[in-house]
Amino acid sequence: MLILAIETSCDETAAAIVENGTTILSHSKATALDPNRNYGGVVPDKTAREQLKVILPVISEATKDILISKVDAFAVTYGPGLIGSLLIGVETAKSLALAFNKPLIPVNHLIGHIYASWLTASKTNLTFTLPSIPPPLPALALIASGAHCDLVLVTGPNKLKLLGSTVDDAAGECFDKCGRLLGLPYPYGPYIGDLADKHQPNNQKQMLNIKLPRPLLNSQDYNFSFSGLKTAFLHQFQNAEKSGHSTDDFKAALAFELQEAVADVLSEKFIRAAKKFNINSLILTGGVAANKRLRQVLQDKVQTHLPQAEVFIPPIQLCTDNAAYIASAAFFHQNIVPLHKINADPSLTVMTALP
Ligand code: KG4
Ligand code: ZN
Repeated sequence: MLILAIETSCDETAAAIVENGTTILSHSKATALDPNRNYGGVVPDKTAREQLKVILPVISEATKDILISKVDAFAVTYGPGLIGSLLIGVETAKSLALAFNKPLIPVNHLIGHIYASWLTASKTNLTFTLPSIPPPLPALALIASGAHCDLVLVTGPNKLKLLGSTVDDAAGECFDKCGRLLGLPYPYGPYIGDLADKHQPNNQKQMLNIKLPRPLLNSQDYNFSFSGLKTAFLHQFQNAEKSGHSTDDFKAALAFELQEAVADVLSEKFIRAAKKFNINSLILTGGVAANKRLRQVLQDKVQTHLPQAEVFIPPIQLCTDNAAYIASAAFFHQNIVPLHKINADPSLTVMTALP
């Protein structure tokens, strides 16, 4: 079964064709970096205007070797995300479904992130390597993205149980705002790791005054909180600025400590939940899963504390937003919904029922 999916939940505009939920046939994406670069973050209106310009070229690119008429169904992200951006994807997908008289499968973007781990083969040239097998079920998925942080028990398609979420900010938001404060280039978060790499951890003197909290690390639930970490980071940074200690070395040490704090909390609570629910497949996904240090910390801690378990992390290019995982989720869920019931829904959560 061939599914052509469209993803426009935030500043990416993506289209992909995937066979049977696992094999990537085409994969195309444009990012609205330029209109947002000078504004310090995603400006919804400017992003949506940019997406209007690129949506058809992105779909054309994804269908250059495959006739759209050969596709069995369309899929689209209908939420959560920015309303203007979602509308562009949803209305374009509805038009295609109507024009080609094929079903349209609405996909929750967060569930999509989970299915990035099911993309295990490709019939097109990719610049990255895919895993050879998908995660065996039951699995535990940690979705760490820009606006969401959810720990989800997955026992089958449509069989999901939410164990915990962030009670305030997501880890991606925390990385982005702290990166902006440090003067890193837009989109900030992805550059935290590069700056942290410049820090020499054995330089004890640098680390003496830098200690950030690990919020909710010892709480008995599986919730997360990153807003206080952001504030603690701001205070450390402002104090250093005031006292003239805000050197390049200090900034690198602060970025390093931030990355450690996020990686500690996410990995420890993830492993604790896996132990409690007796799960041996751990899926780390979402844009923040592109962070190399987080990937490493999780793999190392699982090897030490849960050696019988296996960690599944999609290649970096499939952790961040793309349409291939939307097509995969659509295949495994196959929730075909009448077109008039499919509407963009910015406030969707991981557990919201389909329209
Ligand atoms: O899943 P995603 O691509 O979009 C949303 O659904 O939100 O996640 C975007 C988030 C942003 O906050 C971005 O800064 C963060 O993922 N991110 C990273 C890295 N790459 C993307 N954070 C830390 N390190 C990275 N390498
Ligand atoms: Zn995402």
